[in-house]
Amino acid sequence: MLVENNIPLQNYNTFGIVARAHRLVRLRDEADVRSLLADAALRDAPKFVLGGGSNIVLTGDVKPIVLKVEIPGRRLVAETDRAWIVEAGAGENWHEVVAWTIANGFPGLENLALIPGTVGASPVQNIGAYGVELQDRFDSLDAIDLETGRSFTLDAAQCAFGYRDSVFKHAAPQAGESPRGLGLKDRAVITRVRFRLPKPWKPVLGYIELERRRQEEGIAQPTAQQIFDWVCDIRRAKLPDPKVVGNAGSFFKNPTVTPEQCADIIARDPKIVHYPMPDGSIKLAAGWLIDACGWKGKSVGNAGVYEKQALVLVNRGVARTETSATGGEVMTLARAIVTSVYERFGIRLEPEPVVV
Ligand code: EPU
Repeated sequence: MLVENNIPLQNYNTFGIVARAHRLVRLRDEADVRSLLADAALRDAPKFVLGGGSNIVLTGDVKPIVLKVEIPGRRLVAETDRAWIVEAGAGENWHEVVAWTIANGFPGLENLALIPGTVGASPVQNIGAYGVELQDRFDSLDAIDLETGRSFTLDAAQCAFGYRDSVFKHAAPQAGESPRGLGLKDRAVITRVRFRLPKPWKPVLGYIELERRRQEEGIAQPTAQQIFDWVCDIRRAKLPDPKVVGNAGSFFKNPTVTPEQCADIIARDPKIVHYPMPDGSIKLAAGWLIDACGWKGKSVGNAGVYEKQALVLVNRGVARTETSATGGEVMTLARAIVTSVYERFGIRLEPEPVVV
């Protein structure tokens, strides 16, 4: 385990925001986590777990010790009549693992292709796209408690997955607060994740753009590799590549409203994009709401709203340099969007990335 001081973070966040970590520790295996916790000077200091940095906004230098998870590994753990169980180290690049599973004959993650970030971050926000969420393909994960040093394994129920949500996004209840589940935010470091990829494999083509693509190509029964390629094409066409334009994917969650609230909005804005959910609520497309308020292409300083998808905020400066957008500019823009959507639709958008 090596502790590095005063480390630039601009290459470690996909917005490309310029900031520094006062101290950074790279975790390459479980033993590194144990060494960290055995070190009296580090054990009790506040810590911030960093994966691929694709879901964070840095608003200044990071004072807690940054734990940069770099644990490698990919393997088939088990194969039964009903599933392949595949394990990956938390530091692996998500997209590379998805590509590896498909190339090795373990399909099931293809709809989640090209999502930036690491394997360890995937359960934290229950990543999802094109009709599949991580929780639909999740088996279990290994983690280490940063307070006690204990290793533990969580199954899907224990992760308390929700839409872009899990136990890792909630702080442990403070004294006097009523407990709301376990709360593992900044308390645990995920070391390995196992995926359950059901057999026989079935394509998930419910998402309109995938179905359209299937029809255009005239393919009745696409392979996992074809769906993987289509998802990559669709994402490349409408989401900015963080290597070229700094961004953190969707900046807000899609809000849910009651059918009555939705009917009220439709009466004023008949074109609103909405989807009924299994629990009777209605999910609204936040991108549409933001777009309807005229935000596409607008900026605050060097932070802007992406022209092709209003749900994505982008760095209009040169990412990773002194002319980059600052975290403050990104958050000022985000707050202005929240206010304007609230004033027009009465809906308060919630940011998706973690603000550090
Ligand atoms: N729309 C507009 N204007 C916009 C953006 C969107 O009118 O500027 C409309 C679109 O026309 C479409 C609807 O809103 O009818 C939904 O847009 P899209 O299909 O792009 O999906 P989304 O709801 O905006 C969600 C996820 C994405 C994921 C896609 C595909 C969230 C917060 N975002 O976006 O996830 O890739 O669905 O499944 O749930 C991410 O989390 O970083 C991410 C990219």
